[in-house]
Amino acid sequence: MNWKKAMWGFLLIAMIAFLAACNSESGTTEGGEGDTSSEGSSGESGGEETAASEEEVTIVYARGTDTTPATEELIKAFEEAHPNINVEEREMPADTGESHDQYVTIFSSQSSEIDVFNADVIWPAEFAQANYALELDRFIERDGIDLETYFPGTVAAGQFNGRTWAMPQYTDAGVFYYRTDIVEEPPETWDELIEQASELQGEAGTEHGYLMQAAQYEGLITNAIEFIASYGGAVVDEDNNVVVDSPETVQAIEKMQEIVGSDFVPENVLNFMEIETENAWIEGNAVFARNWPYMMSSSNDEERSEVVGNVAMSRLPAGPEGSASALGGWMSMINRYSEHPEAAWEFVKFISGPEGQKISAVEGGRPPTLKALYDDPEVQEVSSLFADPEFREVLQNAVPRPVSPIYPEVSDIMQIELSTALAGDQTAEEAAANMQAKIEEAMAE
Ligand code: GLC
Repeated sequence: MNWKKAMWGFLLIAMIAFLAACNSESGTTEGGEGDTSSEGSSGESGGEETAASEEEVTIVYARGTDTTPATEELIKAFEEAHPNINVEEREMPADTGESHDQYVTIFSSQSSEIDVFNADVIWPAEFAQANYALELDRFIERDGIDLETYFPGTVAAGQFNGRTWAMPQYTDAGVFYYRTDIVEEPPETWDELIEQASELQGEAGTEHGYLMQAAQYEGLITNAIEFIASYGGAVVDEDNNVVVDSPETVQAIEKMQEIVGSDFVPENVLNFMEIETENAWIEGNAVFARNWPYMMSSSNDEERSEVVGNVAMSRLPAGPEGSASALGGWMSMINRYSEHPEAAWEFVKFISGPEGQKISAVEGGRPPTLKALYDDPEVQEVSSLFADPEFREVLQNAVPRPVSPIYPEVSDIMQIELSTALAGDQTAEEAAANMQAKIEEAMAE
């Protein structure tokens, strides 16, 4: 199985689609954003004297639930280095879609209650176009931040209309977890997974063979994209045409239906998000699981986990076209209406810079977006995968979701159609055809 070649193929298609999406969107919002940036620089940050005057200031940093100690440690280290800036954490829902909707409510009312926030990689285009974000190029240039030291895909995710709206904080790619005390060789393909999961379920006190995210929410899209890409399908092609109604996608959805309908997954797998996966996993309830790299940190957390030392990560099982990971990750952004843009930028610079990213990696198991950190021995210690050059390729070649300011609509359509299929209320063919028609319609509006 030539998974590397397949990954490069996906990357190419995905990058071309990404560039096409950026191009087709530029121009439509130029006027509005030009205004934004001049107002932002002269009005907002011009009046800000915090950094220079050392006057004490408190900024609010919003982010989704962090089950690892990383956020706390990040804030502590930042405050130590910046005694005049206090950071108050505001916890947002763990479900990225719910967080998204709360941010939209807050930012659309031009509220300044949040200064810095973590943005899912799928948001910057939308938030930039909606004028929720402060453009960051002026700070990046002034402070000499070299964007070339980051993985290019993660930088691109924060850019829209030729400007930078978000700094890459950490990247994510779907990975496969297995129990080293139960499994000899992790499965290479989805079919081998099905075989091993049914066979090994019940060993060492496990209840389930496999855990995945199949609830109707954003995480379902990332799981589905992995199946679809591993079968050689895609949601959009290089010209941003919707191509989801293909035999490949149909086969991929059928494989998901088979897994979700099997008796080696939890009965309520259709309610499983990352949190449910993590809880069942660290309780020692499953042989295999799909999640993001952070779950390695939870697995080895002596206070919470029953499986310390018994967990390894590998690539996701492959379909006929190889193994594919969905691209995830989180960026740092500044609310355009923040009253403390200078202090906010100091914090963004810290959490997206080498010191902050190292804390996220070591304390939270989050894969850095700064290339050099993969050579850091402490980062490599988090997991043997971080030291593995092939894993860096998995991260860099992960398959992005369609890039569009209307992404939430595209995601909603996919969530509904896929859920209906997984619940057995429509066939894979119907799901693929409905996604095709509805996404095409949404994109044409
Ligand atoms: C992870 C990813 C994010 C994705 C989410 C889905 O947090 O980093 O990109 O949207 O999972 O649940």
